[in-house]
Amino acid sequence: MERIYPDIAILTGAGISAESGLATFRGSDGLWNNCRVEDVATIEAFHRNPEFVHDFYNEMKSELIKATPNPAHLAITRLQKEYPGQVNIITQNVDTLHEKAGSQNIYHIHGQINQAVCLNCGHILESWGDVTTETVCPHCETPGMMKPNIVFFGENLLYMDKVDRLLKNCGIFISVGTSGVVWPAAGFVQIARLNGAETFEFNLEQTSNNFYFDRHITGPAGTTLPRFVEEFLNKQKNG
Ligand code: OAD
Repeated sequence: MERIYPDIAILTGAGISAESGLATFRGSDGLWNNCRVEDVATIEAFHRNPEFVHDFYNEMKSELIKATPNPAHLAITRLQKEYPGQVNIITQNVDTLHEKAGSQNIYHIHGQINQAVCLNCGHILESWGDVTTETVCPHCETPGMMKPNIVFFGENLLYMDKVDRLLKNCGIFISVGTSGVVWPAAGFVQIARLNGAETFEFNLEQTSNNFYFDRHITGPAGTTLPRFVEEFLNKQKNG
């Protein structure tokens, strides 16, 4: 009889990129300790002071372009290559370290730092260069309407129809490096679990969401995730 390999959905957050030298949001040196959400991550802030918001994300972009993936990102790529079933990545991260690690099937639900979206026509511009209030949309040619393609607080997440299907169909749900306080991503584990998935949490510490996980793997993801993937793949091979 043909063996069935359950789909795997992996939710990643800022913690997976911490060992690449990127700050998380809520740690002691977290981004939200140094600046206010209300100044840089709401649509009101963008309309009030677009120059300031563009500068903030241009600066972030200049940092993120230099970042390189760490063993946790590479472990996911290995899992995608060697596991016979589907492995999908749902990431809250706006960095592109999963792409740099060679992963596929990546859904950036909070947007991507290397993109801007035209508020006039919806066109997505891919660019590692600065985007400013002068930038002209290459599609509708309107100036001054490009917004960083970052999902601000109060905006709808991206790819949610697809993500909902992935969560309902996965047999294994793995969360890596997210505090589980930002909704709706914080509720993904519940959707997966209610639909029968086995659930794993990789984090430095137990999170407020820990009740919904079958297993907690505590420690730095750059160490714990490669070990888990190695053991998981061996178990698959040996039946
Ligand atoms: P947080 O900063 O809230 O949480 C990071 C989590 O990673 C914490 O639970 C840490 O314990 C854990 N962590 C840190 N280093 C780790 C490591 N080496 N290995 C494993 N775990 C580690 O970041 P997120 O949960 O990603 O939204 O935050 C969610 C969203 O809030 C972000 O996407 C961002 C922010 O507002 C947008 O930018 C739209």
